[in-house]
Amino acid sequence: MPTVAALFPPKDERIRWDDYLTRELFHANERVAHGSVVPTIDLAELRSQLAEFDFCTPRGLDELLPWTIAQLEHGVVHMTNPRYFGLFNPAPSFPALCGDRLTGVFNPQLATATTSPAAVEIESHVIRAVARRAGLPPESTGHFTSGGSEANYTAVLCALTRANPSFATEGARAFDGPPVFYISRESHLAWVKIGHQAGIGRSAVRQVATDGRGRMDAAALEKMLDQDVARGSVPVLIVATAGTTNAGMIDPIKRCADLARQRGLWLHVDAAWGGAALASDRLRAALGGVERASSVTIDAHKWFATTMGCGMFITRDPEILSQTFQVSTGFMPSNSASVDPYVNTAQWSRRFLGVRLFLSLGAAGWSGYARHVERSIDLIARLRELLSADGWRIANDSQLAVLCVEPPAGVAEVRAIVQHVLASGRAWVAVAKYEGRDVIRICLTHGETTVDDIRELADALTAAGAAVAQECVTART
Ligand SMILES: Cc1ncc(COP(=O)(O)O)c(C=O)c1O
Repeated sequence: MPTVAALFPPKDERIRWDDYLTRELFHANERVAHGSVVPTIDLAELRSQLAEFDFCTPRGLDELLPWTIAQLEHGVVHMTNPRYFGLFNPAPSFPALCGDRLTGVFNPQLATATTSPAAVEIESHVIRAVARRAGLPPESTGHFTSGGSEANYTAVLCALTRANPSFATEGARAFDGPPVFYISRESHLAWVKIGHQAGIGRSAVRQVATDGRGRMDAAALEKMLDQDVARGSVPVLIVATAGTTNAGMIDPIKRCADLARQRGLWLHVDAAWGGAALASDRLRAALGGVERASSVTIDAHKWFATTMGCGMFITRDPEILSQTFQVSTGFMPSNSASVDPYVNTAQWSRRFLGVRLFLSLGAAGWSGYARHVERSIDLIARLRELLSADGWRIANDSQLAVLCVEPPAGVAEVRAIVQHVLASGRAWVAVAKYEGRDVIRICLTHGETTVDDIRELADALTAAGAAVAQECVTART
């Protein structure tokens, strides 16, 4: 029976296409690094070309691959450009790219250890190493997730299951009152969706006031807990963010841990991007208290610089994790609570997610990652000096690699400035809300950003500020 050669080409052709991709992608990446950070594509033209793909007439890879590469080269915001000061999605490390290639070729199924013993073992080894680095106890366990949101969702399910084992069968009805959990107002608001997903509702996600500098106000948390209990709600979880999305602020983890212990609650530390600071002996003290967490989220696809879709959920409580996800079916080859991912995670069929962090950590070691995160911190400090000298005001005092800035006096239009910078294609920055104010958010997690790149950003911001000021004058006259 002949195979479909378009799907399974002969070996020599595969080698030819692999070589082609290696070369073409290298050159595309070089062009991206020196080109526009923002998309330059004509979307109407793309749509009309796409309309011609009716999938009735097959096309050759010699047409499909260059076409698709060109769309990606010109049609996305480039996280791999060193002047992308964006949302933590960094340029992937080279070992991580190798990991993607290995995973794609072997395509192991990580639902069970029986089907992929080596891959499951490698992932567990990495998770244990990160748990140790965070100071969690040796019995800690966890798994790779699709991202921080899945890891945070896992924390909510674990907290609910621990608070009331009948949650497993009865859901929220198992509780004497509505179950609730606590985040700060500056947290990543995927938590709100998570409340919905977990079936306890968006109103179960209690947003605690911050201290005016982006950190959860522990006194406000305590007061809210008391009020909620008095009203009949059932607190199950406190979330401390270690590296807020907007401003890189770190909640008072130790105070949250004290409160969680006193009240018998699960403590989750959302260190989705800040967690990489654990690699550095110089920076890790900023995350003090993380070792007391019931569970932690760290995304390797953020500051650890793997490709997308590489979150981690780590917990000191393996028992609760497997109670939360335990299920038994006849068709799965094994059901071992301590090793099989499908009985410990929200996913079933699983990609070999962790190999990218395994290869990156293996190649750089903790010391390499320490240099990686410290260079971001040093560059952001240089940028802070450059912008302050130009009259920009620094709104946040993060210990991590995010700067929130406000324009010099007289140039108030944060959104307009950001639009100018993006239109120039010279850099990518975002508008964010920090303590209720619009700020320009600059995050530096790209491992190859240089001093010249931050000078270019400072120039682009100052030019945009001047253009906006001029526009305001013109509009007034
Ligand atoms: C603190 C924090 N938590 C959670 C998330 C969500 O992670 P993901 O986008 O990987 O789902 C983010 C994303 O930026 C984040 O900054």
